Amino acid sequence: MKKVIALILVAVLAVGMLAACGTSTSTDASVSSSAASTDSAKGTDTAASGQLIGVAMPTQSLQRWNQDGANLKKELEGKGYKVDLQYANNDVNTQIQQIENMIVKGSKVLVIAAIDCSALSDVLKKAADNSVKVISYDRLIMKTPNVDYYATFDNFKVGVIQGQYIETKLGLKDGKGPFNIELFGGSPDDNNANYFFDGAYSILKPYIDSGKLVVTSGQKDFAKIAIQGWDSAKAQARMDNLITANYAGGKKLDAVLSPNDSLAIGIVASLKNAGYGSSDKPYPIITGQDCDKPNVIAMINGQQSMSIFKDTRTLASKVVEMIDSLLQGKEAPVYDTKTYDNESKVVPSFLCEPVYADKDNYKKILVDSGYYKESDLK
Ligand code: GAL
Repeated sequence: MKKVIALILVAVLAVGMLAACGTSTSTDASVSSSAASTDSAKGTDTAASGQLIGVAMPTQSLQRWNQDGANLKKELEGKGYKVDLQYANNDVNTQIQQIENMIVKGSKVLVIAAIDCSALSDVLKKAADNSVKVISYDRLIMKTPNVDYYATFDNFKVGVIQGQYIETKLGLKDGKGPFNIELFGGSPDDNNANYFFDGAYSILKPYIDSGKLVVTSGQKDFAKIAIQGWDSAKAQARMDNLITANYAGGKKLDAVLSPNDSLAIGIVASLKNAGYGSSDKPYPIITGQDCDKPNVIAMINGQQSMSIFKDTRTLASKVVEMIDSLLQGKEAPVYDTKTYDNESKVVPSFLCEPVYADKDNYKKILVDSGYYKESDLK
């Protein structure tokens, strides 16, 4: 009887997990994914039986990757896998070496969030030669056939939501404007960065074309606005230059498109130094992504306007599901078999839904869902 109840419970949780990635409420997502981890904590999965999974993450300097790594490790170990979790300090060669070691140590599956999405072809050839399966995590690994699945959030949609936030907050749909805006892009070696920018630009372009949004610096090409390594200090330096060259003499900046939180940190620091943040010179609308703690605090304090929330628990659960399928020789559930062409093949992908948090909804999105405690955000 106990067994039957357990089986029903597992089935219900599995359906919940699928729904989590397919719907747009992150609250749903987190509830079902944390339920899933309770399930996996029993460690009863026969597919796992102590097999080694290599998890290669880019850097510990950004909060999100620490959280991604920790969630993956917890879920996998709960299922009975062994985990080799490595961070590469954003250094491409270190990451390649770590992946090589994971192959040598006998990993069955590699989960990789690439630093340079195009630099892993050789090492993944070695993985394939050793029958090691590869899941591209969050960022799509490019230019190699040796990637089995891609698990991510809908990257284009991330940009669309950022663009729409600016559109709404400035009242562009109601014909308001013209407003001054500056645009930032993510790291050019990260394939996601193009999707983020394209998504946001798809919303902002009509207003730029009609003159309701004015990019005062004129810098609109991705190559011009991209920030190598998602580096806060580089974003701050570029914002400093933009202010000096274009906003001297009291000209006001109304919005800044920032693709993620590490850039937003640098942008806010620069604006603060330039005297923004007072009642006669309020901060512009500033976007972000990842809901890193300092950025949520900056949202509460009115410095940053919003941040895209990617529930890393949801993504981790999906990846564990993929690993189970791969090791049982089954097809993993994937929803998108068209979009993510890595210039060698179309990689079957599972796209989780991003949502945004801002100072009005962060309690519901981030605290009620159990992602943060209120005390984390002080
Ligand atoms: C992207 C990722 C973002 C952000 C950024 C910086 O690839 O999708 O969520 O964290 O990297 O590491």
